[in-house]
Amino acid sequence: MADFNKINQDFLNLLKQIIGDKYVLTDKFDIEPYSHDETEDLVYYPEVAVKPQTTDEVSAILKLCYDNNIPITPRGGGTGLSGGALPVHGGVVLSLERLNRIIEIDTDNMMAVVEPGVITSVFQDKLEEMGLFYPVDPASRESCLLGGNIAENSGGPRAVKYGVTKDYVYGLKAVLPDGRVFSSGGKLLKNVSGYNLTQLLVGSEGTLAVVTEITFKILAKPKHRQTMLIPFNSLNAAATTLTEIFKARIVPSAAEFIEQAAIKAAEDKFERKFPYSDSAALLLLEIDGNYPEILEAQAERIGEICLAGNAVDVFVADSPDKQAELWDTRRKIGEAVKSIAPYKEEDTVVPRAQLPALVEKIKQITAKHDITAISYGHAGDGNIHCNIIKKDITDERWENELPDMIAELFTEVVKLGGTISGEHGIGLVQKRYLPIALSETELDLMRQIKHVFDPKGVLNPGKLLV
Ligand code: LAC
Ligand code: ZN
Repeated sequence: MADFNKINQDFLNLLKQIIGDKYVLTDKFDIEPYSHDETEDLVYYPEVAVKPQTTDEVSAILKLCYDNNIPITPRGGGTGLSGGALPVHGGVVLSLERLNRIIEIDTDNMMAVVEPGVITSVFQDKLEEMGLFYPVDPASRESCLLGGNIAENSGGPRAVKYGVTKDYVYGLKAVLPDGRVFSSGGKLLKNVSGYNLTQLLVGSEGTLAVVTEITFKILAKPKHRQTMLIPFNSLNAAATTLTEIFKARIVPSAAEFIEQAAIKAAEDKFERKFPYSDSAALLLLEIDGNYPEILEAQAERIGEICLAGNAVDVFVADSPDKQAELWDTRRKIGEAVKSIAPYKEEDTVVPRAQLPALVEKIKQITAKHDITAISYGHAGDGNIHCNIIKKDITDERWENELPDMIAELFTEVVKLGGTISGEHGIGLVQKRYLPIALSETELDLMRQIKHVFDPKGVLNPGKLLV
């Protein structure tokens, strides 16, 4: 246990001097929202939650914590799935929710400058109104914050064609744990002036610095989209057929797969029917572009490939409403699956062509341990969310056998050329498994990097590195 100090009244008074009484929360009812995220049923209360509005305020708060050896945990929308925003050592939760300005949308350079507290969908919608596009589309887009997306290097369904958060981050302003502010990168498509600090911070899970401004590359919005839903009699057939689509030189803008139990969970929870929900597995594909005739030809070709791969049918969602409904249900699957019983969600990722092998491994390992797992996720990215469901497993087996089973699964994933998290991060709940994915040399470099940024270890302690 790290040797941190507890917060006293003098410290609270200093926080209040920096941001005003109203934004320093200590009442149990007020800090409850900051005691959990979307990770399992984990709860850790901070001693205080603070809500600054400017970089200067963030800097002053960090310096105060640093000087007083108080742990400080940055927080975005609280939608994280690896416990990254949980204040496991108490101390201060630093909520970025009030740094919520879209500072600039620069169409000459196709770059946008925003603060980390902007809700991802607010940014996406603002751009769409202008014929522009920010493709990264996490399932939690209506409530996650762009700063959290940076911390976790969020992905979502469109990574298959458009990449993940890191592919759009060109500049950052950030505050070090000791309060020093620095900017890296900018509206530059090319930049080899020194180490790439911008990209080092992307995916660093709030353990190195607190981002207070982001420069994103933005795109022109594709004019047309088509969504296709393709039922299969097995998950393996769905995964194998997807590879054939890529072999035909078609890159969908999203390629999701959903196991029957996952879609049934969503139907039950949200009391809505999903087409073909009696099939063993579904592929949900989106293609996009500017020329409808090209999309038509691609859709037709995808249909042929799927039928040749033993698809049960090929369903094209022709109206925007139908498309939106399919995607809305897809986004809610995580919530639905998790409401069945206590669970552990794994975020395995392999090179896409290894997806059928990963599907098979998950089946073998969970059968061997007689444990139920429900899988869905971003097939186009080789990224499976494998939810292990407690159901009738005894507490003892859950505590003792499950970690071994997960370690076994991760070992197989690494053998397939994959890793243990594609987009949810390591945070609190996966850190014990990180040595399966990384060598001692990599871990050592990471520990040293952490030490350079945060020699006292006050920023988001207990996360990522053991
Ligand atoms: C999803 C989240 C859980 O893909 O990553 O729904
Ligand atoms: Zn996902």
